[in-house]
Amino acid sequence: VRKEVLMKESILQALAWRYAAQVFDPTKKVSKADLGLILESARLAPSSIGIEAWKFIVVENPEIRMQLREAGYGQSKISDASHLIVLARRTDIRENIANERIERTALAQSKNGEELAGLRQMLEGGIARKDDETLAAWAAAQTYIPLGMMTVAASLLGVDNAPMEGFDNATVDAILGLSAQNLASVSMIALGYRSESDPYATLAKVRRPFEEVVHFVR
Ligand SMILES: Cc1cc2nc3c(=O)[nH]c(=O)nc-3n(C[C@H](O)[C@H](O)[C@H](O)COP(=O)(O)O)c2cc1C
Repeated sequence: VRKEVLMKESILQALAWRYAAQVFDPTKKVSKADLGLILESARLAPSSIGIEAWKFIVVENPEIRMQLREAGYGQSKISDASHLIVLARRTDIRENIANERIERTALAQSKNGEELAGLRQMLEGGIARKDDETLAAWAAAQTYIPLGMMTVAASLLGVDNAPMEGFDNATVDAILGLSAQNLASVSMIALGYRSESDPYATLAKVRRPFEEVVHFVR
């Protein structure tokens, strides 16, 4: 069997296998290598104009995870999963993001200010056109891309995952001291291994049919 065929089957299998895990086995830990790969998938996520206006906070402290669980309306996976990652958006986009993006690009691609003038104009224009509320929503929207990437990467590795927005953002920000770091929480993802007792593991997947969500304009 050709490698590409095996790859196609693995992707489909992994995506069908994944579900929003509810009950994690607290004794099973994700390896350092797998965690690193999942985080790398987030880091490599695309973003609008390459702003990468995000931070992925791996919360390892068990007491803090218990506090977060409370802020997450008691969702047990917040404390019981092997790992918990909070995805935050940057709140200092207007001040810092364009400069950082230019510096990063100059360094990675050995380009000077003149060569990056067009990019700078696009960044500054794009940011200036948005009011504060739109800017915040824009940054939050970007963080869902690495969230999605992590669900895929984890599932390909056979690591169960649970994306979450069901928590009180202000409380989570306070627990993690995010405001002082120019950050605001958007979502979380729990990673680990499903418990045998998770009743959701065996439920049939609920999805709209392909024909309903995909439309070809020919
Ligand atoms: C951004 C996002 C936030 C979510 N928040 C929660 C949550 O707080 N708690 C929860 O139990 N499930 C949460 N879910 C899981 C969804 O309910 C679930 O993905 C959806 O019903 C489809 O089911 P499946 O992922 O098991 O296929 C969230 C999913 C996404 C993508």
